[in-house]
Amino acid sequence: MNDSFSTVAVSSLPSAGDENPSCNAAGDAGFLWDFWYPAVRSSEIRGRKLVTAMLLEVPLVLGRTDDGRAFAMRDSCPHRGIPLSYGRFDGKAVECGYHGWKFEACSGRCIEIPSLTSQDKLKVERIFAGHFPCEERDGYVWVYMVQPGTRLPESIPRAPQLPVFSQGYKITHLDCELPSHVDQGIIGLMDPAHGPFVHQSWYWRSRVSIHEKEKKFEPIPNGFRMSTHAPSANSAPYKLLKRMTGEPVTTTIDFVLPNVRLEEIHSGKLWFSSRATVTPVRRDLCRIDFVAAWNVAAWMPLVVPIFRSFAKKFLRQDQLTMIQQAEGLKHNPRLMLIDDADRPAKWYFGLKAGLLESRRTGEAMVHPLTGPVTLHWRS
Ligand code: FES
Ligand SMILES: [Fe+2]
Repeated sequence: MNDSFSTVAVSSLPSAGDENPSCNAAGDAGFLWDFWYPAVRSSEIRGRKLVTAMLLEVPLVLGRTDDGRAFAMRDSCPHRGIPLSYGRFDGKAVECGYHGWKFEACSGRCIEIPSLTSQDKLKVERIFAGHFPCEERDGYVWVYMVQPGTRLPESIPRAPQLPVFSQGYKITHLDCELPSHVDQGIIGLMDPAHGPFVHQSWYWRSRVSIHEKEKKFEPIPNGFRMSTHAPSANSAPYKLLKRMTGEPVTTTIDFVLPNVRLEEIHSGKLWFSSRATVTPVRRDLCRIDFVAAWNVAAWMPLVVPIFRSFAKKFLRQDQLTMIQQAEGLKHNPRLMLIDDADRPAKWYFGLKAGLLESRRTGEAMVHPLTGPVTLHWRS
């Protein structure tokens, strides 16, 4: 992907300790199916190029038809399994490189088997290559991942879209791979206590600035919200924002299954909106995709590069920490989630279990939060 940091391929399975139900030894990788996941950046699929990606351990081949539609097929020919990405794409159909079977890119329907003669009765159009719903939003190609071998649900929601609050804004994208199970990536994303240690820097916050915090949370469908509040006063960017508008700064942070963290910051007419998703590539590899948009200072051309370099540094600090953590997780340690700093992580596991159970039983989902909760921690 564009702007990738170093690609890491440290392999380690998450621990199957009691407090860490990431994935079990029986082979269930602990993925959440039937959701949209970002596969590649839109800018990566151009012309008649075929691009490969992996989501939830499913190999995909992606491209764009001549009329501009993005598509995602399983990167495997239904005939003998060779990756379709080794074949050819004519702008409409993908032709397998082995025996030349041709598949309509958007539907996966087979349209030609060159070896058939007029004697053959085989109904070519009944053969399909694996294909997945695909939509482009915010500069990403999103793929709706259903577990191979299962049917698409009758109706599927639209792919996620970053909230924006005015016309005319800057938008930027970053990504970074983490050598961990998606659950570790997600709980890392919602963990407040690592900030002063991992992200120490003069312009953000330092170890000496650790102080007690009280944050209110509330349940939202499939997730939880850190209720709208005034952000930490000791962070330079917030101070600056307040100075620019003279109005109070508020921030709201949501986590929503399967993997989305949304943050909205407002101060007067200025706003900042960001989304981080942690996408499972394999059970031992996930990727953070971070997109941010803001109307803060369209008139300050330096804001984008400065913001990007800060955000990159943040992500790199998290990445390094997770590489180090993966080293430890290889040896299957028992892990702990403690109150209250790790409570959001417990809620995440609770949401995940609740969702799976409600899908299994068809009953309403049991939410780990029954109402507003106030958490206390030092960070
Ligand atoms: S393997 Fe693809 S056409 Fe035979
Ligand atoms: Fe972090």
